[in-house]
Amino acid sequence: MKRYSLLLSILLTLGAAAQPGGRQLWNEGWTFSKDGASRVLNLPHDWGVEQPFVQENPGETGKLAWWGKATYSKTLKVEAEDLKQNFRLEVDGAFSNAKVFVNGAEAGGWPYGYASWAVALNPWLKEGENLIEIKLDNKPESSRWYPGGGIYRNVWLTRTAKTAVAHWGTNVITRIGTNYADVFLDVTVRTDRPQTATLSTSIMYKGEVVAEASGAEQIYDGRKMRQKIRVFHPDFWDTDHPELYLARTTVESADGTVDVYDTPFGIRDAKWKEDGFYLNGVKTFLKGVCLHHDAGALGAVWNEDAWVRRLIMLKEMGCNAIRTSHNPPAPELLDLCDRMGFVVLDELTDTWTWPKKENGYATLFDQWARKDLTAMIHRDRNHPSVILWSIGNECGEQGDPSRWWIPQMLTDLCHQEDPTRLTTAGNDNPWAASQPYAGTIDVYGFNYKPHLYEEFVRTHPGQPVIGSETASCISTRGYYRFPVEQDKSKGWDMNPPFQVSSYDLYAPAWASKADYEWMYEDQVPQCAGEFVWTGYDYLGEPTPFNLDPSVLTNFHTEEEKEAYKKLVAGWGQTISDVPLPSRSSYFGIIDLAGFPKDRFYQYQARWQPQLPMAHILPHWTWPGREGQVTPVHVYSSGEEAELFVNDKSYGRIKRDGYRFVWDNVVYEPGTVDVIVYKDGREWARDIVKTAGKPARLEASIDYAGEELTYVTIDVVDKNGILVPDAADLLSFSIQGPAQIVGTDAGDPTSHVPFYSTSLPAFHGKASAIVRRTGEGPVTLRCTAKGLKNAAIGL
Ligand code: GAL
Repeated sequence: MKRYSLLLSILLTLGAAAQPGGRQLWNEGWTFSKDGASRVLNLPHDWGVEQPFVQENPGETGKLAWWGKATYSKTLKVEAEDLKQNFRLEVDGAFSNAKVFVNGAEAGGWPYGYASWAVALNPWLKEGENLIEIKLDNKPESSRWYPGGGIYRNVWLTRTAKTAVAHWGTNVITRIGTNYADVFLDVTVRTDRPQTATLSTSIMYKGEVVAEASGAEQIYDGRKMRQKIRVFHPDFWDTDHPELYLARTTVESADGTVDVYDTPFGIRDAKWKEDGFYLNGVKTFLKGVCLHHDAGALGAVWNEDAWVRRLIMLKEMGCNAIRTSHNPPAPELLDLCDRMGFVVLDELTDTWTWPKKENGYATLFDQWARKDLTAMIHRDRNHPSVILWSIGNECGEQGDPSRWWIPQMLTDLCHQEDPTRLTTAGNDNPWAASQPYAGTIDVYGFNYKPHLYEEFVRTHPGQPVIGSETASCISTRGYYRFPVEQDKSKGWDMNPPFQVSSYDLYAPAWASKADYEWMYEDQVPQCAGEFVWTGYDYLGEPTPFNLDPSVLTNFHTEEEKEAYKKLVAGWGQTISDVPLPSRSSYFGIIDLAGFPKDRFYQYQARWQPQLPMAHILPHWTWPGREGQVTPVHVYSSGEEAELFVNDKSYGRIKRDGYRFVWDNVVYEPGTVDVIVYKDGREWARDIVKTAGKPARLEASIDYAGEELTYVTIDVVDKNGILVPDAADLLSFSIQGPAQIVGTDAGDPTSHVPFYSTSLPAFHGKASAIVRRTGEGPVTLRCTAKGLKNAAIGL
């Protein structure tokens, strides 16, 4: 939601520079103090990702030091005249235990690091300079993944008249008629005195006013005023056509126009039925991914460009849904989902009262859960993308009937605060699904239990069901092991290089390859969709190379835990903090640097069956494997495929799931070709060739945003073929007004800091993130010993 002062909105319309007043980003020029050192920086900021990886730090949270205490401070200058206005500090996310001090006095704060919150500043403000301090305190043992540390999302300063729309003070509900939609807009007004105020709202679409309403009412502080506005022939919001409207609300009191408040929204009909999810009357299967909040080399810092790039790739894969596991996201992520067409499962927490980590959310739950949930709903309820409130993930209380009042209380609160949406939760306890527990959640979410969909549907008529967390297949981009084993635990061993084979057959004990989930989805068409764990790799939780007790939260019975301990003992290890090098996950369909793994194409085949595509794996550069069996798999949704190695056919076969398998291929250098057929006709092809020695570097722009440009470096041979095992040390440099803000190559075991300007290529690739700092030409150069360098203009 954006708020402009009237002056500001006029200036913005005229294209003039923003003036003080209204709602302004307040990110610049904060003094950051930690461990006795201070410096000035701009928010958003994550102090953890600025650190080197430290082997002894827990891999579970990314081997980065995100803990400790820190203070961010900034001066707010206030003229005497300004004190007639209300000042509000809005923080979209600060990890964690934030306390705000104004001129030394505690003015507010919020402990949950993923929540957005606001503090009214006026009681402590004086004319002249005011010191605003935000103090954070991150306790170790509070997270199962890398949480980041710092004010890692935007901070806003909002100035309003004494009579104005409240923080998150609008709620749009749309009801669709035959050739129109009724827009019900509830507006909560804050005022310092009862008076008559006029509220007018213009509904805007593509910059034009398409409907208007206004009315005068007696207001007092906290009064909700409702406007009903009819929009004829609306364009609906859906994932292919994410059409957005804007409600611009003007408040006029005796003092004149006192506030202008914008609420973007969409007109759409989202319904859950027992056989799935319907968007504007069309059954829409949720092709979803779970995402943690970090953006790889940027850490937990919110950056729009980074997430536009990520979402574009997910779209390309055919993904239409996102689960913000396991916490409320940056609000701008929801703006992007609104604009780019993703539905969202907006999640509150990983924990209720049953602790997963000693200092985790369980320590806050009793005092804060209701406030956190209400804040999430008030902040996010106008986003057309949000279709479900998820009240929790794998909370241990599933197994404890005396605690089922908790999900019931959370679901009731969701219904009270937002009567238009249902609730869900990620559930992993199979027993709970058959208990009254299931009735405390509207849309039942199963984590890794597709074999229970059928029984659930049969025994819970009328209750929708989704795969809230699925697969958890693990792999490393570009890494393949032989022989190719079908046993899901045989894709890695507990020794270097600590990588997982990318044949996409491997998963931890509780998890499975993608195909297993799909088999059940196909058998039970009532299942409304799935959320794969995960779309992208993330910092922390480097299963299977964690060996720390956190992984045991995935098991809910002592027997299962014991069985896992035995498995680990079989590897010659114990469940303890054995310092393995891995610092980021292997679960991603796309790696941490943003390069698709093979699985990307497997999901693309399933989720975009109309798209002619074929993808061959593995790569075909295996010096030393000559004459040895080297299975070739191809992902495609075609019906039949024929594989050729150096023009010799290995046969035309039918697919198994979305995979064609030739297990008897014998390696010889050269060319692997596949031709895929559909309806008897050629439909798609793919080809891979054996690479020679690394000869040169190739730079290409992967994504150029407003602020950041992502550049990909490929190490190629003299014919331009990617060298799949190249690990040359790359060095980046910049000419012109720009800086390198991060580098990464997607290796979960790499301890090269993200801020380093040199790093080894990983399986032939690396990525550099460049921020422009001024006008003028910028060139990024990349060099490596013995190779022809690359330079690219940005
Ligand atoms: C789930 C859990 C996720 C993640 C995943 C890994 O059980 O909900 O947060 O830990 O396992 O497979």
